[in-house]
Amino acid sequence: MIVDRDKAARELIAFYHESGVDVVIGEDPIDRLAEDRAPALEEPDDHPLPPTATVAAREHPPAPHSAPRSDRTRVEPPQAPAAPDAAVMAAREAARRATSLDELREILNRFEGCALRATATQLVFADGNPNARLMFVGEAPGRDEDIEGLPFVGRSGKLLDRMLAAIGLDRKGVYIANIVPWRPPGNRTPTPQETAICLPFTQRQIELVDPEVLVCLGNPSTQTLLATKEGITRTRGRWFRYQSGSREIRAMPTFHPAFLLRNPISKRLAWRDFLAVKKTLAAAAT
Ligand code: URA
Repeated sequence: MIVDRDKAARELIAFYHESGVDVVIGEDPIDRLAEDRAPALEEPDDHPLPPTATVAAREHPPAPHSAPRSDRTRVEPPQAPAAPDAAVMAAREAARRATSLDELREILNRFEGCALRATATQLVFADGNPNARLMFVGEAPGRDEDIEGLPFVGRSGKLLDRMLAAIGLDRKGVYIANIVPWRPPGNRTPTPQETAICLPFTQRQIELVDPEVLVCLGNPSTQTLLATKEGITRTRGRWFRYQSGSREIRAMPTFHPAFLLRNPISKRLAWRDFLAVKKTLAAAAT
């Protein structure tokens, strides 16, 4: 029998793609589950990053609040995956313990209660300025974010950068996070269970940043943080109240940049939302 190797390779790649494997980050496979069974060890300093990650790390040095590489790769003792309710409880307790963003990142980095951690390359905690008056919360890291360890660095991130520039801001003046800090396989939407488990961490993150204005990018962020079932076309552009610890913050849902890339006609509405945010920040500053 003659084997058509090209066809076989194409079929194998299609199979991988359908299974959610849509990026190559190294030449050799790594069994992350076996890593979790190994005794705790630090990655040696001279261990090279995979080629793609090396380029990414060079072009985008870690932000003050992205985990140092040795932290990201630290292997914790094995723990049985927690049942969903127990995981939410554990998340609440763990998040409450954090007294700073650095501590929160460390705690999250070690948290075993969310299964997404096993398939993601690394934690994507945040980017930007922890003292910012304006905070954005998106949905979940995608492929580029998973590789670089920073939120919104792919195509939708580039659009977010342009939207920020349009109101005179950049990443040094805002803080950016997601409701789920690990990439869901194949960029699927995080499940309600995954979102519920990660929520206490996002809530604590908002509390610690303590922004004056919170912008929810897209439906999952809006519905999760603002506890509404209404869709983004109805919620966008409206001011909500977000209770953060003992303080109330003004919150505005707007379209997710990924949606705007697919529906450029809606950019004018997002533009209006960004102007409203700018006006509110300016008024609060006077
Ligand atoms: N989309 C998100 O919601 N978050 C990211 O970090 C990237 C894309």
